[in-house]
Amino acid sequence: MINTTFCKIELQSPLVLASGILGTSVDIMNRVAENGAGAVTTKSIGPIERQGHNNPSVIEIENGLYNAVGLPTPGYLNMGDELKRWKEIKVPLIASVYGSSIRDYVHIVEYLQKYKPSIIELNISCPNKDDGMMFGASPRLTSQLVRAVKAVSSIPIMPKLTPNCDNIGRIAKECEKSGADAICAINTVQKTIIHPELKVPLLAYGKGGISGPIIREIALEKVKEIREAVKIPILGLGGITTGEDAIEMLKAGATLVGIGSGVYSRGIDIFKKVNEEIKQIMKKEGYKTLGEIK
Ligand SMILES: Cc1cc2nc3c(=O)[nH]c(=O)nc-3n(C[C@H](O)[C@H](O)[C@H](O)COP(=O)(O)O)c2cc1C
Repeated sequence: MINTTFCKIELQSPLVLASGILGTSVDIMNRVAENGAGAVTTKSIGPIERQGHNNPSVIEIENGLYNAVGLPTPGYLNMGDELKRWKEIKVPLIASVYGSSIRDYVHIVEYLQKYKPSIIELNISCPNKDDGMMFGASPRLTSQLVRAVKAVSSIPIMPKLTPNCDNIGRIAKECEKSGADAICAINTVQKTIIHPELKVPLLAYGKGGISGPIIREIALEKVKEIREAVKIPILGLGGITTGEDAIEMLKAGATLVGIGSGVYSRGIDIFKKVNEEIKQIMKKEGYKTLGEIK
């Protein structure tokens, strides 16, 4: 009843674990799958080893999280046996990648596709790295990147867009024109929060990105903007923690719904809980399939 198709891939649920929330370990990905996620996304994998930012790097705020973890990664060539074990993951796997240049992205995608993820997500939207949003805020650079990656990839490509720009519809359109198979939106909303008494930034990096229910309205608005601009499917996320939220995201035009910060607030079985809530709302409102909701 809540099964769906995305980029010709069959999913048992529209709910997807968002990138960066539970790392890249195959065992954890399978625990998320057993807990009802239709697909899982890895932490973003980068070109070379990177430590990320000092603590404090994640803080709970009212109605959400505030983070500047800073994309720590072993580097795509240093992931040991983990990549070989990707085939053990019981639901479709979305491999998230990031880089500082088109060449970085191309090399990582060429390498990772040998391990057959179902989709490759291009993280061009991280606010917590100096050049993290360089691509995502520029229609021209985004277009060049998507074309270059599509030229080497046999796997569907899904750029992940930032809300920290004033033209997300235009960026999405450029992605579509350049061959992207889907769009993921949104990444965290950039913010600098200062401690009211100490007058210093809350996070060691100075600035960061907020997530969770506090950004839900922004996410819905951005997904609607993207839906109006493109025909390719959307994985919508940002502040989704309940079945009601997920249905709203589907109504905004998403086909899949990502959950990130919600894992912290409702636990790893949030996917099971939200699946049940979606089913109950569908029954009450007389929807037989997710397609009817749109
Ligand atoms: C601690 C933390 C780490 C994150 N790491 C990544 C990451 O590595 N790559 C990425 O594309 N997004 C990352 N994100 C963003 C999430 O995938 C998601 O886009 C964002 O949090 C909005 O969804 P949410 O409100 O459900 O959390 C991270 C978010 C958090 C809170």
